[in-house]
Amino acid sequence: MKFDDFWYVVCESNQLKSCKVLQRTVLGEWLAVFRDEDGNPTALRDRCMHRNSRLSHGKVSSGKIQCPYHGWVYDKNGLVVAVPAEGKDFRPCHTRRTLGYDTKEQDGYVYVRLTQNPTEKFEPFLMPHYKQPGWETVRVINRFRNNVTNCAENFIDIPHTASVHPGVFRSSMQQKLEMTVERRNGSVFAEYRNETNNLGWFARFLNHQGYEIRHIDSFHMPNVTSVEYDMAPQRQLFITSQSVPETEESTLVYTDVTYNYGIWNKLARPFIYWTAQYIIHQDVEALAIQWEVIKKYGTHFANTPADTIHVFVESIRNKIANGEDPRNLPDKSVRVNFWV
Ligand code: FES
Ligand SMILES: [Fe+2]
Repeated sequence: MKFDDFWYVVCESNQLKSCKVLQRTVLGEWLAVFRDEDGNPTALRDRCMHRNSRLSHGKVSSGKIQCPYHGWVYDKNGLVVAVPAEGKDFRPCHTRRTLGYDTKEQDGYVYVRLTQNPTEKFEPFLMPHYKQPGWETVRVINRFRNNVTNCAENFIDIPHTASVHPGVFRSSMQQKLEMTVERRNGSVFAEYRNETNNLGWFARFLNHQGYEIRHIDSFHMPNVTSVEYDMAPQRQLFITSQSVPETEESTLVYTDVTYNYGIWNKLARPFIYWTAQYIIHQDVEALAIQWEVIKKYGTHFANTPADTIHVFVESIRNKIANGEDPRNLPDKSVRVNFWV
């Protein structure tokens, strides 16, 4: 198994307009992404084979892309279908092409898979309750200066919330939480108990009756995290993040906040958007600092039992990095107490 066996988000569906080209980087590979004549997404290596210009600086018309330098035209498969300097003498030749990648469109996202021959046919992660009746989704995109592992871990790390997001999310040292962390089948699940009111201004609106909160965080190989809060009927919230590796030190994170607040659904949108961005920007800063230190001193962590989630996530991502299948790791379940 390799990281490029999986599907990665390259844009929201509505960002990819016809006759428009987007420039993207996934796992270090440069991509020019556009729609073909049938409206299907196309992703080509962002390199003109003629004299190395970038296709993403070119123009799209009738579902084909034209290099900005000498005007070679590429079709959706990456085949050169016109060369202006050859005029009417032009004959297509199957060796004149740039790499083309598989694409998929699902849940309002465009996905690309980089491998040409996957060891296994994975599917993109299903975004919970996307466009289902009664549910709303607020979608935000943020770039982190750090790698996918540290980003994913941050999104399901409770102990940092009191210090990085004081007041917004939690206030510190009020509650003893019990969590069960489980690793199975390439996923990590953390279930929390004893959580009632320590959720800052979120809770005052969402859970003013002080119901017991059902809270499960999960990680799914290779790059998805989901935070699920179930406070009462029509007080349910999912925060699902897809961390897309641009390079070793840059991660583009697509986050869906999907919620069911009953009659408050529409009114809550701007509030949810603002809160999500406020919180995520605090994480962007925290992760940039962590990355600076990792670059200088390397990755050596001093883990406590509260960091069990991190240890499990790293074990899964390390397996894939070594070309192995993390679903072969033994199932594990650990009970941990900690204070927030
Ligand atoms: S470099 Fe692209 S057409 Fe010449
Ligand atoms: Fe955070």
